[in-house]
Amino acid sequence: MSNSVALSFQNVTKNFGGLTAVDKVNFDIRDNEVFGLIGPNGSGKTTVLDLVSGLLRLSSGKIISYDKKISGKTSAQIARRGVSRTFQLVRMLPTLNVKENIASGGVFGFRRYRRKELDRKVNYMMSQVGLTGKGMLPITMLTYIDQKRVELARALMSDPKIILLDEWLAGLNPTEMKIGINLISGIRYEGRTVVVVEHHMEAIRSLCDRCIVMNSGQTIAEGKPNEVLNDERVISAYLGVGNA
Ligand SMILES: Nc1ncnc2c1ncn2[C@@H]1O[C@H](COP(=O)(O)OP(=O)(O)O)[C@@H](O)[C@H]1O
Ligand SMILES: [Mg+2]
Repeated sequence: MSNSVALSFQNVTKNFGGLTAVDKVNFDIRDNEVFGLIGPNGSGKTTVLDLVSGLLRLSSGKIISYDKKISGKTSAQIARRGVSRTFQLVRMLPTLNVKENIASGGVFGFRRYRRKELDRKVNYMMSQVGLTGKGMLPITMLTYIDQKRVELARALMSDPKIILLDEWLAGLNPTEMKIGINLISGIRYEGRTVVVVEHHMEAIRSLCDRCIVMNSGQTIAEGKPNEVLNDERVISAYLGVGNA
């Protein structure tokens, strides 16, 4: 790999009218890293993912992925560059079954498939995330963790180099959380770069190589989870002490 930086954020800023949701943010995510994005509600984490995936346009600054500028590109172009994501609130096609929902992830994106290939790939993805045998079930019949598995499988269908997970572990019970953490680790060992927005600190500690903490659109700490989670500014941001 010529350049080991999967994503480079350079003075990335996003304004919504008078509100600066992301404020001149600078950090790099390395190739094949599990990178955490943490911070209180409203601190700008989802907006950062929306900027990477092209759902939103930057107000200023740029985002570089493996030496190529992706900010300013459309979400379809960015997907073709190997970026895939899940959403904070599960988004699925309710009239379609499990297989069809997963297959929808192979239609756009980095890798696209022909009919026969698609079917094989969908079956493979179902086995990877633990959905074997559930392909024909309507989405509405699934338990919450199984819906999460569908989302993950769908995001992986395009064989992304970088996957963005927005609170993917949220709402899982402790047993499911362990399964979820293992699934995410597995994605990294396939060689992908994983960006997780997460509130669950144990998950951050066990998954992430490094993380940044955001508060009011700015990054207030960066480093290994243990360093960052003991940082006074981080603790006070979470407790709301001196937090504008
Ligand atoms: N589309 C939007 N229009 C206006 N304001 C928004 C929009 N999306 C997010 N915001 C605001 O930007 C800030 C950051 O939001 P968000 O990135 O969702 O935070 P987080 O994911 O860290 O909880 C919040 O104040 C939120 O209300
Ligand atoms: Mg969010």
